[in-house]
Amino acid sequence: MKLLLKGGRVVDPANKIDGVNDVLIIDGKIAAVEPELAPQDCETVDVSGKIICPGFIDMHVHLREPGFEYKEDIASGTRAAAAGGFTAVCCMPNTKPVVDNIAVAGFVKERARKCGVVNVLPVGAISKGQGGKELAEIADLVAAGCVAISDDGKPVMRADIMRNALEYARMFALPVLSHCEDLNLSQDGQMHEGYYSTIYGLKGIPAVAEDIMAARDILLAKSTGAHVHICHLSTKGAVELVRRAKDEGISVSCEVTPHHLALSDKIVETYDADTKVYPPLRSEEHIAALREALNDGTVNCIATDHAPHEKESKDCEYHLASPGISGLETAVAVIMDKLVSKGLLDVKKMVELFTTGPAAALRIDRGTLTPGKPADITVIDPDVVKKVDPAVFYSKGRNTPFKGMEMKGWPCMTIVSGKVVARDGKVII
Ligand code: DOR
Repeated sequence: MKLLLKGGRVVDPANKIDGVNDVLIIDGKIAAVEPELAPQDCETVDVSGKIICPGFIDMHVHLREPGFEYKEDIASGTRAAAAGGFTAVCCMPNTKPVVDNIAVAGFVKERARKCGVVNVLPVGAISKGQGGKELAEIADLVAAGCVAISDDGKPVMRADIMRNALEYARMFALPVLSHCEDLNLSQDGQMHEGYYSTIYGLKGIPAVAEDIMAARDILLAKSTGAHVHICHLSTKGAVELVRRAKDEGISVSCEVTPHHLALSDKIVETYDADTKVYPPLRSEEHIAALREALNDGTVNCIATDHAPHEKESKDCEYHLASPGISGLETAVAVIMDKLVSKGLLDVKKMVELFTTGPAAALRIDRGTLTPGKPADITVIDPDVVKKVDPAVFYSKGRNTPFKGMEMKGWPCMTIVSGKVVARDGKVII
């Protein structure tokens, strides 16, 4: 099986490639990245004018299976990933039951093998039942193939438990993904605490609720030598803490989401529960700090925190609504439209943030177009203009605050192990 992608702008930061090249795929692997390839007996796709990248990795996705299949399952979530340009996703363990033991982790792997259309990398829980009191069977989770541990959706409130988790994780060189939120400060909060929470009459979540936990976990990373990765980082204070920690040589990384980069707390004015998410959409000064941090190396990756919910849990009063945004099918377009096309982020940096950045944070061997590696490839058409239409999402979660917005720059082909799984937003396997 041979496939040739002809004449696209290949951006492969790991191999320092940024220029017009052909990409040859043979038997599911990258065979060559060179100008003017002309192999025999080969299916050829003209990709001139398009951007050819290593397959995008989303290290923060909720696939909801097992237990919440009415929100999403592995089949629908991985199709959403493929349509959105992702070739690999990490799935979070806040399922029912929680992925805190070898049996549930094995179930997720098996389901992914059977019905997933992109690579699924499971994340195990830090604590049993994500209860924050007793550590999960971390060695078993590693044996079952988990690439990281996290209690995402909830913070680990007890510093002693987090410290023990880090001590364990270090033995396996396993990254610990931290949901930074001090529940005593964020309790009952609906949106970012600031001018708009006052005007809209909704209880606020102060930025310092995130900063405090980021500071704690950075200090614990320093004292244990383990790797802490901060999930959905959203505040100016946490940005500064990570920046300083990196300067000091502490093993820390972080991700930001497209929604925190693109939308501010003002948008809550409609009381549309699709704008409700934890951490909440922040004010302009936080957004400016996140955007700056994308460019100066403080932020390692962009991750969606894809959090699909059924209609009923969003179609209600704001304070009753479940938090979360269905993000897989809009992420690339949001970054292309709101940042790249406005000159706030260059294409090469964007590709790093979706490929080598998450691969390094997860310590996995992905995110490049090096010959011999599996042919996981994301192709972007920078000129396509489309409106976000949740009605055509593959995700069961239609909850997006981007609905109806017109965006320029969309993924147009997703290739997993040499197989084209999506084209122009449509899954084709
Ligand atoms: O808004 C959110 N939704 N934030 C989280 O951390 C968890 C997620 C979910 O699982 O729905």
